[in-house]
Amino acid sequence: MTGPRRVALQGDLLDFTGDPGWSAPQDAHPGVRHRPGHWLLIEDGRIVDVQATAPGPDWQREVRTGQLILPGFIDTHVHSPQLDVITSYGTELLDWLETYTFPAERRHADPAVARVGAQTFLDALLAHGTTTAVVFPTVHKVSADALLSAAHARGMRLIAGKVLMDRHAPDGLRDDVLGAEADSRELIARWHGSGRLSYAMTVRFAPTSTPAQLAMAGRLLAEVPGLYMQTHVAENRAEVAWVAELFPEARSYLDVYHRAGLLNERAVLAHGIWLDDTDRALLADTGAQIAHSPSSNLFLGSGLFGWRALEAAGARVSIASDVGGGTSLSIQRTLADAYKMQAMQGVKLSAYKALHTATRGGAEALGLAGEIGAFEPGCMADLCIWDWASGPVARHRDALARSLHERLFAWLMLSDERNLRETWVAGTRMPSNDRSDRPVRPGVPR
Ligand code: GUN
Ligand code: ZN
Repeated sequence: MTGPRRVALQGDLLDFTGDPGWSAPQDAHPGVRHRPGHWLLIEDGRIVDVQATAPGPDWQREVRTGQLILPGFIDTHVHSPQLDVITSYGTELLDWLETYTFPAERRHADPAVARVGAQTFLDALLAHGTTTAVVFPTVHKVSADALLSAAHARGMRLIAGKVLMDRHAPDGLRDDVLGAEADSRELIARWHGSGRLSYAMTVRFAPTSTPAQLAMAGRLLAEVPGLYMQTHVAENRAEVAWVAELFPEARSYLDVYHRAGLLNERAVLAHGIWLDDTDRALLADTGAQIAHSPSSNLFLGSGLFGWRALEAAGARVSIASDVGGGTSLSIQRTLADAYKMQAMQGVKLSAYKALHTATRGGAEALGLAGEIGAFEPGCMADLCIWDWASGPVARHRDALARSLHERLFAWLMLSDERNLRETWVAGTRMPSNDRSDRPVRPGVPR
């Protein structure tokens, strides 16, 4: 019989014990835990301890002195098929969907496209330091199946489900209530709770689901324990006006989802820009979270997100790339955009608050605090090893930093996936993610 697999990883450990909040950064800032040169002890994929001294000879030692070790990032809203249309020029949300996104998603009806697309996407997530994500594939059962299967094979903590859309979408991208329910049930039976996966009822957004389909999603959520729900809300002004026309009985866009029984503490709603006080209170009451997607909001010209107002109302906020509306899978770039978006509103987002949101905060918002997001005993060892600086400007700036926050903030603003050295999932180093040898996907023009 072999004993437990024991790995001790040494480097600059940084994680969070709580929310650092909005106060100005300081030394010994509440919630921030910085343990330079410490050893993270991992047994069979789980963190068992952190210590300042090297462990005994029965531990395999992995020394990464001088490198930054963070919990793996949590991206709470991203679309796997939209890597095909990331950085598409010149539109706002509704035009962007029609012009670029729907045609790209239609190609994922083909099992070969779905399979290669899922693998490319998950390898790209890992290559950007994201170890957990809440993901939209497409309306096609095969695309959800391919995504969940590929995440299972990688041991990743993923939340996803087949997209529901039974109206206002082109041919080849619509389902119907009965078919969608049957597909969802089949996928739930196969994947929900399998490995590290959870299933999410995935309502694209209110305009693309009939009230009957929204009601079906609500029924399944009430029936199956632990299901998540993901959708979009109040992203763009033309979209909000369209929802008001389609659902005149609802008090607001968010209320459409509430009436269908879709809001609970496992509901993840992207954007939430055009909300009012009643909506904010409803989010707080139901425990539903907003997946803040600053890169996407800037790129699609959607609006400025009121982060502090939502938190002041007691609602949860997580961070999301929203690729392909967002222009990068990099959480550092996403957080840099978040900083600038808050700055436009006179609010300062510290590196502490930002990185907390992408790690422990995201885990808490998803109800996964005991499993991911921090270097706590019992958590899975999902983590990333980063270079503090890459390139001459970042190295110059890093050398001049006088405090932890100054160094970390410069890292956040100047770094991206090129700083990533290693991604570990459940205590195992993932293979290098250079997919340059991959064939071009069938059906995708060069
Ligand atoms: N609203 C409905 N679908 C989408 C999508 O794919 N991306 C974004 N950003 N908003 C949406
Ligand atoms: Zn989205």
